[in-house]
Amino acid sequence: MTLEDQIRACTRCPELAATRTTVVVGDTPPGARLLVVGEAPGALEDASGRPFVGRSGQLLDRLLTEAGLPREQVAVLNTVKCRPPGNRLPTRVETTNCRPWTAAQLERLSPSLVVTLGLSAASWFLGRSTLSALRGRVHEVDGRRVLPTYHPAAALRGGPAGAPMRLLREDLATAVRLVA
Ligand code: URA
Repeated sequence: MTLEDQIRACTRCPELAATRTTVVVGDTPPGARLLVVGEAPGALEDASGRPFVGRSGQLLDRLLTEAGLPREQVAVLNTVKCRPPGNRLPTRVETTNCRPWTAAQLERLSPSLVVTLGLSAASWFLGRSTLSALRGRVHEVDGRRVLPTYHPAAALRGGPAGAPMRLLREDLATAVRLVA
């Protein structure tokens, strides 16, 4: 079985396995130098089987294109591959259950840079902290470069003139420069 098939067959989280429509394995275009990591699929991702296809995904696509790197060339994963019902936060147990899958994907992709979106994804790499303590700087984690930034949902909540939108745009532009 391929890694993707194993992830799709996973039932480690009984509630998520019972309520999901699809397992959102992620986008892994061959040769991608940039990996973007989010939290967990939402309703549209669960229905389509693809990560970041809702409003947050559309913003992500737009900002990546603005920065000069089309989304099709970017790998996109979530720390948790199944939608938590009602879009609740993934529990610590769910994140731990899914961790080996994401770790195996990361190993195989071996990106030049990882951008984490929001606190859950930043904490996956860097442990418990606050986003303001971590964002906008490149951290080295097990020999990998990790750049934490805001989640697009936070940028949408803050509006077009808000700080999260400005900083997300800035950080994605930095990321694209770093992998050029
Ligand atoms: N938010 C995420 O963190 N991941 C998705 O795939 C969609 C929305």
